[in-house]
Amino acid sequence: APESETAPEVRLDVDGDVAVVTIDRPRALNALSGDVLEALDAAFVQITDAAASVRGVLLVGEGGRAFVAGADISAMQGRGPEEGERMARLGHRVAERIEACPAPVIACVDGFALGGGLELALACDLIYATDASAFGQPEVRLGLIPGFGGTVRLPRVVGPARARELIYTGRRIDTEEAVRAGLVARRFPDRDALLAGARETIALIAQNSPVAVADAKHVLVAAAGRPTGEAVELEIDGFMHSFGTDDMREGVTAFLEKRTPGFSRG
Ligand code: CAA
Repeated sequence: APESETAPEVRLDVDGDVAVVTIDRPRALNALSGDVLEALDAAFVQITDAAASVRGVLLVGEGGRAFVAGADISAMQGRGPEEGERMARLGHRVAERIEACPAPVIACVDGFALGGGLELALACDLIYATDASAFGQPEVRLGLIPGFGGTVRLPRVVGPARARELIYTGRRIDTEEAVRAGLVARRFPDRDALLAGARETIALIAQNSPVAVADAKHVLVAAAGRPTGEAVELEIDGFMHSFGTDDMREGVTAFLEKRTPGFSRG
């Protein structure tokens, strides 16, 4: 078969303690087809299984124009509610897989992050972006609503008022506005700086206890949107769990002995 038919549209490259997941469908601005979503799901299952060695994940879009321009609109024509449900459940499965990955995931946005693309980025722990990026939930322009978590995660990140404005108007915001809204954690002049900055963040994370970082992520994900009392109980459980780990004994002892801790390998 010709290469174009067999080339995987999602690549997973593990480079030391950093995993890079690349969505490589630039002709459709990396739109999330069913195949791309299934491949993303498989990539994050693989990373989670290799959790001991991977300390951080970069999620990137190939081609220089888009992170991801949304769910695949070409697969929607003439389809009914059953297809809508199937698509939404698959998108949510990928989002949950990213949230279940013990290592932090950084969405590295260089270009469009629209609709399902922004929702994919919102499922990650952090969004870093180049100045040449654009963010939005344009679904209502297609007669749709966000389907991969936009109504759930966007208001948590930017607040309900800003989320409503973005979802009802479908307007795009640039990186500067996205930083001000708290959507983008850090901005970079170009793609090289973006990837280098994301790797530096993972290097900082990798100095810390992998168990503690994974537990912190677990609590942050589980507590999101819960009432305060329930969220607090989840934190107490996590904190308690920390007190039983070798990494806690090592971290606390190293601090008191004024030396660098030697944490577990996860
Ligand atoms: N699905 C399928 N194909 C897409 C796509 C998408 N979401 N976005 C872009 N493409 C395709 C275009 O059809 C085009 O293909 P052809 O070359 O074969 O015509 C190619 O990618 C390049 O796109 P454009 O020619 O449109 O590029 P542009 O620079 O003129 O515009 C853009 C760029 C503003 C991002 C425009 O492509 C666009 O508006 N895309 C759709 C954005 C969108 O509405 N996303 C939400 C999708 S619905 C969703 O995501 C639901 C959900 O919540 C899960």
